[in-house]
Amino acid sequence: MTIRPLNYGRHQIDDSDVQAVVDALRGDLITQGPIVERFEAAVAERVGARHAIAVSSGTAALHIGCLAAGVAAGDMGVTSTLSFVASANAVIYCGGQANLLDIDPDTLAITGDGVRNYLAGAPETKVVIPVHFGGLATQSAEIRQAAGSRFVMEDAAHALGGDHACGTPVGSCKYADMAVFSFHPVKSITTGEGGVVTTNDADLARLLRQLRTHGIERDADRMQNLDAALEDGQRRTWYYEQQLLGFNYRLTDIQAALGLSQLAKLDRFLARRREIIAHYDAAFADLPAVTLVQADTEFRRRSAHHLYILDVDFAALGRTRQQFIRELNAFGIAPQIHYIPIHYQPYHQARHAYGPDAFPAAVRYYEGCLSIPLFPDMTDEEVDHVVATVRDLVRR
Ligand SMILES: Cc1ncc(COP(=O)(O)O)c(C=O)c1O
Repeated sequence: MTIRPLNYGRHQIDDSDVQAVVDALRGDLITQGPIVERFEAAVAERVGARHAIAVSSGTAALHIGCLAAGVAAGDMGVTSTLSFVASANAVIYCGGQANLLDIDPDTLAITGDGVRNYLAGAPETKVVIPVHFGGLATQSAEIRQAAGSRFVMEDAAHALGGDHACGTPVGSCKYADMAVFSFHPVKSITTGEGGVVTTNDADLARLLRQLRTHGIERDADRMQNLDAALEDGQRRTWYYEQQLLGFNYRLTDIQAALGLSQLAKLDRFLARRREIIAHYDAAFADLPAVTLVQADTEFRRRSAHHLYILDVDFAALGRTRQQFIRELNAFGIAPQIHYIPIHYQPYHQARHAYGPDAFPAAVRYYEGCLSIPLFPDMTDEEVDHVVATVRDLVRR
C-alpha cells in the first residue's frame, strides 16, 4: 500500500475544475470579468447574502472590510488571539490597533460576554472580528448584541458551508455587517488564492468594490467632477475617478472559474469531511491522553469542519509535541498547529507587551493542539492509515 504524504489539509481538484480553468483561459477577459461576477452571485446565493465581493485573498477581504468599517489611524479593532495572524493584521494595515480576546475552551472562540467585558473598557472600538475557528460559528447572536452599533465582521475563513446556531448559513450576515471567506487551498473550496466579503448592505458593497480596485469609481451617478465626467449629459466612456485610496485586490476570471466549479462540489466536500470526522471521533474516543475538541454533537452538526484537532497531553505520553510530530512524519503524516496564539508572535508582543498570564484558555489549548489530516480527497485507506498510526503512537 502506498500512501502519499498526508498534510493536515489540501485541495481537491478534478478534471472538471481543470476544464473550467482552461475554458476561462480561452475567454476574452482573464482578469476580473464576467466569471468573477458569476462567482460572486453564486457565493452570495449559497450563503444567503445580498452581495459578495471577490478579492485576491482572505487577507485582502479582511483588510478592505476593516477599511469599509471605517478603521483608520489610532482606531481599535478586536479579535481572537486564537487565529491566523491575518485577523489582527487587517486592523493594523489600516493604522489601527488590534486588540485580542481569550477563547472559550469548548468553542475555541470569543464569546458575547468576552466582547461585552472588553468593550466596557474600550468603548471606542470600531470593529469586532469573531473568528469561526475550525469552521464553527458560535455565539453569533450574543456577539452581535454585545457589539452594539459597532461593526461586526466575521472572519469565516474556515467556515464556508457552516451554519450559525439558528441554522442560517455562515456568510448570510444575519449577525454581522460583513463576513469574510478564504479560498486558500486548504479551505472548504479553493481558487488557488482568493477570498470574498459578503454583506447585505448596498453602501458597504459599493465601497468594498471601490477599495478592491484602487478606489476607482466608474458610475456616472457618483462622479465628483461632473465637468470632466460628462459630455452631453453622459459619462465619457473613458472617464474614471479615483475617489479614495484603494488597492489592486482583484480576483481573476481564471480563479473565479475554478471557484465556480469548486462551489458546485461544496456539499460533496462537506459530506466527505463529515464522514472522516465521524470515523476519527469513533477511533480516538477512548485514547488515553487525547481529548477531542469542539466535539459537542451540536457543533459537529453545523461546523464546516475545516480542521480535525486532537488535544494531546504530551507530558502523559512522555514525549514533546515535536517528537510526536516527527514520529507521525515518519509515517507520511504532516500535522500542523492551529494556531500559535497571535499574542505570542514577536510582532504583536512588541506592539502590546502582553503579560505571562494573558489569555490563559488560548495558551492552555495551544500547548496540546495538533491538527491531523482532514480533507475531502482522503481515501478510506488514508483515513485508516492516520487512525492506525495515531492510535499506535499514542499507546506506544
Ligand atoms: C482564520 C483565518 N483568517 C484569515 C486567513 C487569511 O486568508 P488568506 O490566506 O486567503 O489570505 C486565514 C488563512 O489561512 C485564516 O485561517
